[in-house]
Amino acid sequence: MAKRIQFSRTGGPEVLELLEVTPAEPGPGEVRIQNHAIGLNFIDIYFRTGLYPAPSLPSGMGTEGAGVVDAVGDGVTHLEVGDRVAYAQGPLGSYADYHVLPAAKVVVLPEGVDVETAAACMLKGLTVQYLLRQTCPLKGGETILWHAAAGGVGSIACQWAKALGVKLIGTVSSPEKAALAEKNGAWATIDYTKEDVVERVRELTNGEMVDVVYDSVGKDTWEISLDCLKPRSLMVSFGNASGAVEGVNIGILNQKGSLFVTRPSLNGYADTRERLEMMANELFDMLKSGKVTIDIGQKYSLAEVGKAQEDLASRRTTGSTILIP
Ligand SMILES: NC(=O)c1ccc[n+]([C@@H]2O[C@H](COP(=O)([O-])OP(=O)(O)OC[C@H]3O[C@@H](n4cnc5c(N)ncnc54)[C@H](OP(=O)(O)O)[C@@H]3O)[C@@H](O)[C@H]2O)c1
Repeated sequence: MAKRIQFSRTGGPEVLELLEVTPAEPGPGEVRIQNHAIGLNFIDIYFRTGLYPAPSLPSGMGTEGAGVVDAVGDGVTHLEVGDRVAYAQGPLGSYADYHVLPAAKVVVLPEGVDVETAAACMLKGLTVQYLLRQTCPLKGGETILWHAAAGGVGSIACQWAKALGVKLIGTVSSPEKAALAEKNGAWATIDYTKEDVVERVRELTNGEMVDVVYDSVGKDTWEISLDCLKPRSLMVSFGNASGAVEGVNIGILNQKGSLFVTRPSLNGYADTRERLEMMANELFDMLKSGKVTIDIGQKYSLAEVGKAQEDLASRRTTGSTILIP
């Protein structure tokens, strides 16, 4: 028997149940992975609360993990039993001892990248890869605004932006989080719970404002973000930590300076095997070079998953969070 987290209805952390199950067998094109570490992400909370509907209920939870290939289905050519691997996409259900998913979503870990690091950065690091290198391919010299800069995605973004020669202004909610973001390479920080973000961005950029805003906070920061942009520049809205941005009148983009806006997702960028491999290779190169290190701020057991999600939702975590099955 093996452990698995499941939810049968949407709601608070209490809907997450720990079950004993017999691990499923992989079908054609699939592999079964014995997880050694599991990544916790804000998107897991969106599925639990119903902001993003799960394909069906009852449902497993989680999309990110790392471990060892334990069984291989027919037709799988790039993976063998015993390979050290990681994944960030695919069917819900990574909060478990074993997870079955399409082999095409799984990458082999190179030497020097351990499984805990991989579980802590596959989803978040691939996200930073596409945001900084594809959504708006930064060349160096730009100034950007990044909300929640001390979080899981934010901690990686601070380091990657610095490596690219990009000045990242990070928003945070406490002096401790500001210190962490600056340690990770943020050029400047703003406490958005106390300071006027638009005015601080104006001061820091000598009135020029920023080239791109990366906003995963959503509802609470949408208009502030638009006000921090240079004319004709790009707003990247990529998350909903404070709630979804709704009811937008597209005319606001004209009023705020002929702006561009995009609402991207990892699945929209890592949508083929080739693109996933390209993105993962670039992430692993950043890890191996030491330009990006992964800060695992918290670890929990599978039985503590409700508390883990509650801590993430309540802004009590920093860096990445993993579950150890
Ligand atoms: N579109 C994509 O492809 C994609 C992929 C990965 C992640 N994301 C998004 O990126 C964001 C970061 O994900 P993560 O897993 O790394 O989480 P995280 O950044 O570690 O945690 C979320 C952070 O958001 C900030 N926040 C601001 N207002 C909040 C509120 N009302 N409630 C809760 N938190 C609030 C908090 O930082 P402060 O305390 O400093 O404010 C909190 O620590 C999430 O919105 C997630 O959905 C999007």
